[in-house]
Amino acid sequence: MTAIDPIAAWHTEHVYFNQLLSLLRKQLDVFHQGDRPNYELMQDIVGYLRDYSDQYHHPREDVAFERLARRCPDMELVLARLHQEHRVIAHTGEVLLRMIEAILEDAIVPREQLESALATYLVYYGNHLAKEEEDVLPLAAKELGPLDWQAVKDAAPSGRDPVFGERSSERYRELRRQIALES
Ligand SMILES: [Fe+2]
Ligand SMILES: [Fe+2]
Repeated sequence: MTAIDPIAAWHTEHVYFNQLLSLLRKQLDVFHQGDRPNYELMQDIVGYLRDYSDQYHHPREDVAFERLARRCPDMELVLARLHQEHRVIAHTGEVLLRMIEAILEDAIVPREQLESALATYLVYYGNHLAKEEEDVLPLAAKELGPLDWQAVKDAAPSGRDPVFGERSSERYRELRRQIALES
């Protein structure tokens, strides 16, 4: 999220995350069809979401939520839930990532275990993004000012997006190629 047009930047990140979730969903479809999904790609997606979203996007949102809750007490519960969901997303993402890594190291992971972890992550994350888009962004556009946005940015100042950013990292080359194929 930048200070230039913070709402647009915030929304853009949600569009990116939804793109990644839809790529991940395709891998779940492959799995359902009985074929081998692209585990390397899955690892990149969940790894990126952990590294970027959990470390930068969510801490920034948490500051925005706090400031919004102070100004709109009737939204306090909704915002507290979304804040808690960040912890759940981080935890389920970590579990899923470990499962994928185990598979890549040739460990046996029961099919149902991977399937349910993946499906749960997709639904939970997708709902979380939808809720923010619907309830939080319009409110933030109305209620938050330049000082708030500065505090939001300062919550996680050095966030460089290694996939969608200008100076993207070599590590995610294949993921970027897959995203380009989709659009
Ligand atoms: Fe969030
Ligand atoms: Fe978000």
